[in-house]
Amino acid sequence: MTYAEVYATWQNDPEGYWMDQAKAIDWVTAPTKALDDSKAPLYRWFTDAEVNTCYNAVDRHVANGCGDQPAIIYDSPVTDTKQTITYAALLTRVSSLAGALRAKGVGKGDRVIIYMPMVPEALEAMLACARLGAIHSVVFGGFAAHELAVRIDDATPKAIIAGSCGIEPGRIVHYKPLLDGAIEAATHKPDFCVIFQRDQERATLIEGRDYDWHTFQQGVEPAECVPVKGDHPAYILYTSGTTGAPKGVVRPTAGHLVALNWTMKSIYNVDPGDVFWAASDVGWVVGHSYICYAPLIHGNTTVVFEGKPVGTPDAGTFWRVIEEHNVRSFFTAPTAFRAIKREDPQGDMIKDYDISCLRALYLAGERADPDTIQWAQRVMGVPVYDHWWQTETGYTIAGNPAGIEPLPVKIGSPTVAMPGFDVQILDEGGNPVKAGELGAIAVKLPLPPGTLPTLWNAEDRFVKSYLTTFPGYYETGDAGMIDEDGYLYIMARTDDVINVAGHRLSTGGLEEVLANHPDVAECAVIGVSDALKGQLPLGFICLNKGCERSHAEIAAEVVKSVRDTIGPVAAFKLLAVVNRLPKTRSGKILRATMVKIADGEPFKMPATIDDPAVLDEIKEALVPLGYGRS
Ligand code: COA
Ligand code: AMP
Repeated sequence: MTYAEVYATWQNDPEGYWMDQAKAIDWVTAPTKALDDSKAPLYRWFTDAEVNTCYNAVDRHVANGCGDQPAIIYDSPVTDTKQTITYAALLTRVSSLAGALRAKGVGKGDRVIIYMPMVPEALEAMLACARLGAIHSVVFGGFAAHELAVRIDDATPKAIIAGSCGIEPGRIVHYKPLLDGAIEAATHKPDFCVIFQRDQERATLIEGRDYDWHTFQQGVEPAECVPVKGDHPAYILYTSGTTGAPKGVVRPTAGHLVALNWTMKSIYNVDPGDVFWAASDVGWVVGHSYICYAPLIHGNTTVVFEGKPVGTPDAGTFWRVIEEHNVRSFFTAPTAFRAIKREDPQGDMIKDYDISCLRALYLAGERADPDTIQWAQRVMGVPVYDHWWQTETGYTIAGNPAGIEPLPVKIGSPTVAMPGFDVQILDEGGNPVKAGELGAIAVKLPLPPGTLPTLWNAEDRFVKSYLTTFPGYYETGDAGMIDEDGYLYIMARTDDVINVAGHRLSTGGLEEVLANHPDVAECAVIGVSDALKGQLPLGFICLNKGCERSHAEIAAEVVKSVRDTIGPVAAFKLLAVVNRLPKTRSGKILRATMVKIADGEPFKMPATIDDPAVLDEIKEALVPLGYGRS
């Protein structure tokens, strides 16, 4: 079938389409119905089914005779380690860990926070939770203690599983003090913690609260898979919204299994047994879906890579991993390729490797700029597929269905809507616009299986954030257009979310930290263009009247407080001290105009601006930071 035929099959009978895809999953009780609209506009899928995610990701492959196939290849240039874990070994490891968690009281519906670096044990912890029907919430290692504490208080976990440390080029990330600090700061306290001790740093355990990963598994009965209802939350993953309070995206169990399994062939064009590699981090949705769950559910081998595209040890690392592990499909963020291109502009390093095993490169997480796509096409000699998705959906909204029918690539477009997603461009009044016209990107409800049914503990926020602006639609928060051929183009966010090296950050959250500094009277944070990371946060602060302290000193304190509160991942280094912020007469800060000035783009003087002269002051303050030049 062609893509158009597949999409039409879904459009004509969405429920039948997903019931058909559901046949690829091993159910305890098979669904009799796909969509449950009893709580519309909150939709759920496969609610009358019973199933276990870990069974589908691990046990069934062993039962089907694939126990000897590698499930995980761990490749860690930062520790000089390589390890292969077969499906049979993974089953033993995961059931043992699940047994130990169960012995300490973790069961169906309990939350478990996972704060770990890119080691196979992070996946094992996720799968062990899934085995018990416990709901995990993985927190990215680049977040500081405060962000971890916020998530502890929202998810109220029974247990936390953490690594003793992470390894960033040139420094050890001391996870344990961050964990201890977060637990101290949080109101909710977990019953216990499990610490995976790494050779690079052994953490001090707190007697009675912390258990060593290995010793706490000794002598316990391995756990069997616990069946859960189709709409049972598989996990919660926090992501940035408009304010500093992160949104807890809930992932429903059954839809997640059905949809992710579908994507592996239809989009990534791999068959069971093929090696699939997503160079991301388990802390992000790409890591959840494409380092852990989808490849394992589909019976692929997944690569867990602990390193960077450059500097570990060089810009040839990606090519080495592809060759050495026989990678078929490779997925990363454009920023990784910009980093490689910067180090090795001619792509000379690829000549030392044979990457003929590779079929295609998939890019997502941020806008893929034409230069980077063309460079990757030229250097790698394989199709480069941009695809667009969000933490909320968990998989591709628009992409190139390479495993169904590879469509011609139009540079600048992530291609077309996937079955399940009726993507529309709406004007401010919620009416569809003509082809080629810009508008808000929305998806007609219901969203397909596996996408978020709600936010954890925040149904009202879910409805307000996503379902209210355009009744009957899911508001994506992105703006763009669809051309005459149905190709989608993603242009910008419509909210205060920015995208730094593929990491999603809230400027509102950053502003909360800036505003907390005792000398800061007012502030604003915007996202400015950056050749490597796509965007960088840039802050403006106005100081309290009468403050005579050195501006440089205050700026250094503010930068440090962002690193200490949100974490190094915010990459917050650009800060200007100004007398005033540009505002409308009603007091709204003109952030969009400030972005245009910073990026040196033409802009229209806002009709409602209070004092146009402030814009000149802003421009002047930007120049020393390397921005604001036309
Ligand atoms: N744990 C602790 N700290 C982390 C971390 C982690 N898991 N990941 C990143 N950090 C730190 C970095 O060490 C850096 O700290 P520094 O300020 O002390 O240098 C900071 O957070 C910013 O990290 P990052 O934005 O990743 O920038 P970088 O300069 O270290 O590397 C790239 C730049 C392009 C090489 C890097 O961003 C990259 O590999 N990107 C790939 C894309 C990706 O994985 N995207 C995720 C979504 S798909
Ligand atoms: P996250 O939830 O972290 O995956 O971030 C999702 C957001 O990243 C989207 O809403 C977009 O703004 C942006 N994004 C993701 N993929 C793409 C893409 N292929 N092109 C443009 N923007 C993208």
